[in-house]
Amino acid sequence: MLKIPIIIINFKAYDSAIGKNAVKLAKICEKVAKKRKKSVAVSVSETDIAEVSKAVSIPVLAQHIDPDEPGAHTGAILAEEVKAVGAIGTLLNHSEKRIPHKILQKTIEHAKKQKLITIVCVKDNKEAAQVKKFKPDFIAVEPPELIGGTISVSSAKPEVIKASKQALKGSRSKLIVGAGVHTTEDVKKSIQLGAVGVLLASGVTKAKNPEQVLEALAKGL
Ligand code: G3P
Repeated sequence: MLKIPIIIINFKAYDSAIGKNAVKLAKICEKVAKKRKKSVAVSVSETDIAEVSKAVSIPVLAQHIDPDEPGAHTGAILAEEVKAVGAIGTLLNHSEKRIPHKILQKTIEHAKKQKLITIVCVKDNKEAAQVKKFKPDFIAVEPPELIGGTISVSSAKPEVIKASKQALKGSRSKLIVGAGVHTTEDVKKSIQLGAVGVLLASGVTKAKNPEQVLEALAKGL
């Protein structure tokens, strides 16, 4: 399981966070996690999972998996494979990699069979209420229009976080929030509003000094 409260950095496919840079950045994340004694995880491109998992002790997540079992599925990203090379879980339905809910349900079931932790991304509290019935471990609410921007979800849309917390009341899925998160205050406010963690990308992957940014984010947990 992922220790909460948590900061999850989605490396996406940023130049600064793929290949050798993925290992370098993951080591920075691990250094800050150890120094601040805070829970930090990284979500990396599937081709980087093996190298990053070998290089760091913090949790490594895939950014997507398909629902397929091993077999004639050209190009599929299998739960079995990402697990075999070190992933402990996966993002699903990210705004940049949407999955139709019917397939999403099948994918979550398959991930569970492989004992992979599931973090399902949704655009708002309404979608959170729809996907909670699939019982993912976490639901990450990320308003698409805020992704990659400088105003965080906790400043721009606190009501969406509150409504998402309400929507998940009584469900096993824990709330994570993301989009535009890049300061201590953004993290603090997200937790105060009811999230158990934040999911972010550009605040760290595009930073001149990612270690400094991550130190500041960790202060918010
Ligand atoms: O998965 C997290 C990501 O979509 C948020 O992006 O750049 O706004 O932190 P960013």
